[in-house]
Amino acid sequence: MPRAIVIRAAEPTEGGPVNTAAVEQIDPARLGDDPVLVEVHYSGINYKDAMALTGRPGIVRKTPLIGGADLVGTVLESADPRWQPGDEVILNGTGMTENRHGGFSELARVPGDFLVRLPDGLTQARAAAIGTAGYTAALCVLRLEQAQVSTEAPIVVTGATGGVGSIAIALLAGRSYQVAAMTGRVDQYGAYLRGLGASDVLDRREFAGQGRPLQKARFAGAVDTVGGEVLANVLAQTLYSGTVAACGLAGSPMLPTSVMPFILRNVTLAGVDSVQTPLPLRQAAWELLATSLNPQLLDSLTQTVTLHETIAAAERLMSAQSHGRIVVDVRG
Ligand SMILES: NC(=O)c1ccc[n+]([C@@H]2O[C@H](COP(=O)([O-])OP(=O)(O)OC[C@H]3O[C@@H](n4cnc5c(N)ncnc54)[C@H](OP(=O)(O)O)[C@@H]3O)[C@@H](O)[C@H]2O)c1
Repeated sequence: MPRAIVIRAAEPTEGGPVNTAAVEQIDPARLGDDPVLVEVHYSGINYKDAMALTGRPGIVRKTPLIGGADLVGTVLESADPRWQPGDEVILNGTGMTENRHGGFSELARVPGDFLVRLPDGLTQARAAAIGTAGYTAALCVLRLEQAQVSTEAPIVVTGATGGVGSIAIALLAGRSYQVAAMTGRVDQYGAYLRGLGASDVLDRREFAGQGRPLQKARFAGAVDTVGGEVLANVLAQTLYSGTVAACGLAGSPMLPTSVMPFILRNVTLAGVDSVQTPLPLRQAAWELLATSLNPQLLDSLTQTVTLHETIAAAERLMSAQSHGRIVVDVRG
């Protein structure tokens, strides 16, 4: 019987987790009736996965559910003519770990519509190292490039040591942007961030608290994974006609700002979602990653865990004790 991490509703307790997660053996007949059967080789732990695995509310919408917002593997059977046995595929988001079984499973049944073919030159393990985090970073970079952000001033990346942040830095630096990495852990990870390509490392504390709506402008754009006051202060420091790609809420889902940066500096706040992204944009993001992300840098920011080690690794991610990307070797 294949193994998977199954998330189940917990016994209700005051303030306790709403769900529990454990490695179980699963009946393949209960994987649903989607047309493509995939032998999953790798998944990864994203912020959302860590929330789901540690029983936080707001992610999992039905139980029992197999966790894992990402999967990378090989097609075993397909009733969808676009996919054949032996095809190497990637699937991110599309409701996995929310209302659809995900990639922490040796077998998965998935729809063919949002599968991306593994790009040439990328291994399955590296595609999982990129995962939703890296693919979201690529969506943010595409958004900045579409807006033709200036290369004359830095792009600031917030939550820099995280999965999205680390890959955004490596991608932007690889495409010749100046990158300022903002982190809450300058002493511990300053050298790591410079190694990824950041030319400057900023202390998140300088961006805490309510600042003036317009401050000294210094960023051509931003990739923001943090939200809250940090995002408000980044907007206030964005240069005329700059673009800020906002994809995360690691600090806060709130945005205490004013319209000033938008109406006086022509700043654009561009929202980025990775879950419901249309297929052509998914393919463009993966192409960007396959061609612009230095594989050695990717390896340097990745650690690998087994299925049995996944829940403990999720706990570390939620308590900000990890950095970079965590790949799950599903058969390990
Ligand atoms: N829109 C989408 O489709 C999409 C897709 C993927 C991820 N996301 C979101 O993007 C965010 C980052 O995801 P991730 O996978 O990169 O997570 P991650 O690996 O856990 O990284 C998050 C980073 O945020 C910083 N951080 C943590 N707690 C913070 C706090 N209380 N205040 C301010 N900063 C804090 C830390 O960086 P430093 O220590 O370096 O400051 C941490 O490394 C999450 O909110 C996630 O839900 C959204």
